[in-house]
Amino acid sequence: MIVYFNGQFVPIEDAKISVLDRGFIYGDGVYEVVPVYARHPYRMPQHLARLQRSLDGIRLANPHTAAEWEAIVRDLIARMPFTDQAVYLQVTRGVAKRDHAFPVGVKPTVFMMSNPLVLPSAEQVERGVAVITGVDQRWLHCDLKTTSLLGNVLARQDAVDAGAVEAVLFRNGFLTEASASNVLIVKDGVIVAPPKDNLILPGITYDATLELAQAGGLALAVRPVARAEALGADEMWLSSSTKEVLAVTTVDGKPFAGGKPGPVFRKIYALFQASKPRAA
Ligand code: PDD
Repeated sequence: MIVYFNGQFVPIEDAKISVLDRGFIYGDGVYEVVPVYARHPYRMPQHLARLQRSLDGIRLANPHTAAEWEAIVRDLIARMPFTDQAVYLQVTRGVAKRDHAFPVGVKPTVFMMSNPLVLPSAEQVERGVAVITGVDQRWLHCDLKTTSLLGNVLARQDAVDAGAVEAVLFRNGFLTEASASNVLIVKDGVIVAPPKDNLILPGITYDATLELAQAGGLALAVRPVARAEALGADEMWLSSSTKEVLAVTTVDGKPFAGGKPGPVFRKIYALFQASKPRAA
């Protein structure tokens, strides 16, 4: 497999980082995952804007202009044999003697790879998926897409151990998001999404979902969602670049919302599928 590493396309075996890379030592870096449909990156400008926001948030200069990023991403996509892809890109603060403070004059490490886009199965779309609930134990900058993901990793493993696909997290009694997806609910026909504050990642799919809902004339509200409201909702959805929009039908081992995807999910799923780039 060919990957992009610090200015070159190389076989993955040849992309080697130093043990002193701050991404390795401190998790001092940011990343993006861009879904690619029929070789078209989906919402690339939005992903690059979020990358800039994450870089600003950790005070790391962007090593590339948006045009340069776009060119590298397109080059990588063209080199891959599959049409639907998931591009992963990561920037770290580079290689330096271990010291918490930022190193001076060090070049960031840039890595990019693209794997086949593995979307939920037809059965998962049709029947919905299982989640567990958990306490959000992450830091207070979940709005930055950093590679420091231990809180997310531990939450996801709790889900896997329980036979579920995601852990839906609550902080101080309010819904935040899941380990690697945003969470939206539906109550009395209204789609309710937690606000994009510092406690959740501003999801590109979350935005796409709300835009499609609005254009499709569905009622929506953005406001904090208390735990009881989330667990008593008519529908619950996960959204992410690799899950698209997926209905939750089991919570903590018990059937949720009638145990099958609801009517508003079916509408938003259809709108989402219709909005995806297609082969020319
Ligand atoms: N995860 N919240 C978290 C914590 C996430 O990690 C993600 C995405 C999302 C959804 O964001 P988007 O719609 O932009 O994909 C929300 C990616 C896919 C990952 O880490 O693999």
